[in-house]
Amino acid sequence: MTHVLTINSSARHATSASRKLTAQIVQTLNPEKTTERDLSQSVPHIDEAWVGANFTPMDDRSEAQKDVLAFSDTLVDELIAADVIAIGLPVYNFGVPAAMKAWIDQVARVGRTFNYTENGPVGKLAGKKAIVAYASGGTPLGAEYDFASTYLRHVLGFIGITDVTFVTSEEQITALAA
Ligand SMILES: Cc1cc2nc3c(=O)[nH]c(=O)nc-3n(C[C@H](O)[C@H](O)[C@H](O)COP(=O)(O)O)c2cc1C
Repeated sequence: MTHVLTINSSARHATSASRKLTAQIVQTLNPEKTTERDLSQSVPHIDEAWVGANFTPMDDRSEAQKDVLAFSDTLVDELIAADVIAIGLPVYNFGVPAAMKAWIDQVARVGRTFNYTENGPVGKLAGKKAIVAYASGGTPLGAEYDFASTYLRHVLGFIGITDVTFVTSEEQITALAA
């Protein structure tokens, strides 16, 4: 069974190119199960209580600290449950939207999505595939000033997702199924 998690972050809805492309990715993959996460619907920034809870060993966390991490755990659980992650990536000011950065801070979790080892950090989500729908107004994918795709690829690799494909058009998505 294939389970696709769709993550959108465009502030726009009906007119969003990245949302249109992620919908097409899901349609093309025709998975048995889908989950949608809309980051434009307020992902909280991490704060001091969050950082304190995250770096408290799991067994030592108070109930209040568990509550602080509950939403982050939900976002991590969504990633762990998915086989394929379809990510809409609108370029905002040469980088990822702030809502996506907030999501990244919530899901880059030691012990949950990566571990520190003798050889440095190792991602725990190996084996998953990410398809990223890149939408921009004038920053070509891979341009020297495209900090959005390079950053997102690096972060996904950090948590173990190294099979990452970027698409910018419906034709490229159709070709994925071929
Ligand atoms: C706040 C904001 C910042 C943007 N910054 C850039 C940019 O740095 N480079 C670029 O090529 N396009 C930029 N754009 C244009 C968007 O990347 C483009 O409209 C894209 O289609 C947005 O994705 P969406 O259609 O899914 O909303 C920006 C748009 C907005 C709203």
